[in-house]
Amino acid sequence: MRSLISPSFALILCLAAPLLVHAVPRSGVDKQSFGKTADGVSVDLYTLTNKHGAKVKIITYGARVVSIEVRDRAGKLGDVALGYDDVLGYEKDSSYLGPIVGRYGNRIAKGRFTLDGQTYTLATNNNGNHLHGGLRGFDKVVWTGKGSVVAGAARLRLTYLSKDQEEGYPGNLSVTVIYTWTDRNELKIEYSAQTDKPTVLNLTNHAYFNLAGAGVGDILNHEMRINALRFTPTDATSIPTGELRNVKGTPLDFTSAQLVGARIEEKYEQLISGAGYDHNFVLNKLSGKLGLAAEVYESTSGRMMRVYTTEPGVQFYSGNFLNGAIGKQGLAYPRRSGFCLETQHYPDSPNKPGFPSTVLRPGGRYTQTTIYQFSVRKGRYRER
Ligand code: BGC
Repeated sequence: MRSLISPSFALILCLAAPLLVHAVPRSGVDKQSFGKTADGVSVDLYTLTNKHGAKVKIITYGARVVSIEVRDRAGKLGDVALGYDDVLGYEKDSSYLGPIVGRYGNRIAKGRFTLDGQTYTLATNNNGNHLHGGLRGFDKVVWTGKGSVVAGAARLRLTYLSKDQEEGYPGNLSVTVIYTWTDRNELKIEYSAQTDKPTVLNLTNHAYFNLAGAGVGDILNHEMRINALRFTPTDATSIPTGELRNVKGTPLDFTSAQLVGARIEEKYEQLISGAGYDHNFVLNKLSGKLGLAAEVYESTSGRMMRVYTTEPGVQFYSGNFLNGAIGKQGLAYPRRSGFCLETQHYPDSPNKPGFPSTVLRPGGRYTQTTIYQFSVRKGRYRER
C-alpha cells in the first residue's frame, strides 16, 4: 500500500517528535525553596501547572497564593494575582495578599465573643475590632505542604495545627486546605477542620485579583456581577448592624454586571464608611451547597473569573486600603489595584445569633469549598 506521507516528511516528524512532546505542557507539581522567615523557618514554593501551561504558585508561609498565570483573549499568559517576590515581602505585608485567613476571616466586634457561657478575648487589631484571626493569624504561620497529581490535576495539601488558646481562640484546631488546579483552569480550595473544644471558625482565601494583570492599573473597569439580593450593612467600624438589606436601589446592586468604578464614589453612607466596597453579600443560594457567588469580566484582556462556593456569603473588597506597597517584579500596588472576593460566613457571626452559625464542636467537622474559575470571553460581556 502506498504511504500517505513522503519518506522525507516522515523523517522530519520523527526528529521533531521529542520537541513536540516537550512543547505540550503536562499537569504537575514542582517544589522549590522560597527562602526562610526572619525566625529561620524554611518556606517552600509549589508550582501547580495544568495541561494548558497555566500555573498557580503557592507558598507554605500563610498558605498564600503567590501568582495565578492564566491566558488572555490572545492566548498570552499573564499573572492576575497580587503578591511579593520573597518571604520578607509577605512578613511585612499588612494587606493580606493571597493567604488563607483564620481562625476568623473578617471581623469580630471588640475582639470578644461568648460561647457556652464563657467569654473569650481576642486581639483588637482593626479599629477596636478583631480582624482576620489577630496579630499572628493563619496568614503568618508556616504550613506543612505536600504536592501530588490526583486524577490528572495538580494538587497541594497544606496542614496546620493551631494550638488551644492561639490568638485567644479555644481548642486545638487541626486545619487542612487542599488547592487543586484543574485543566478547566479552576483553582479549587477545599477546607476542613476539627477541634477538641467548642470554638468559632471562618476560613477564607484573601487573594487580590486584577484580571488585566497584577500591578498594571486599577480594577475600576472590571465588570462585576454578584449573586446576591441582600448585603449586611455595617457601622462606622465595619461591624454588621445585623440588618440584611436589599441591594435594590443602592450602589451595591450587582445583580446585573456593573463596572466596579461606576458608582464607587457615590455619597451612599455604606460606601463612605467602607471607603468603597468592603461588604459581605448574602448569596442567593443554600449554605453548604456549591453555587455561584460572583463573576467578573475585564474587557481589555478578555479574562473572566467565576467564583463558586459552599459558603453563605462573599466579601467584595475593592482594595481601598492598598497603599502602593511594592510587589512582584518591582510593581506597585496602589489603592484599588486589586479586588478580593472572600467567600465566608458573615462578619461578627459569633455575636449575631441571627446569622448562620460559625461554631465548631468536638466531633464535628468544618468543611468549605470555593472555586475560582478562569476563562476568556470574546467581545464585551454585556453583549453576550
Ligand atoms: C477587609 C478590609 C481590610 C482588608 C485587608 C478585607 O477583608 O474587609 O476592611 O482592609 O481585608 O486587611
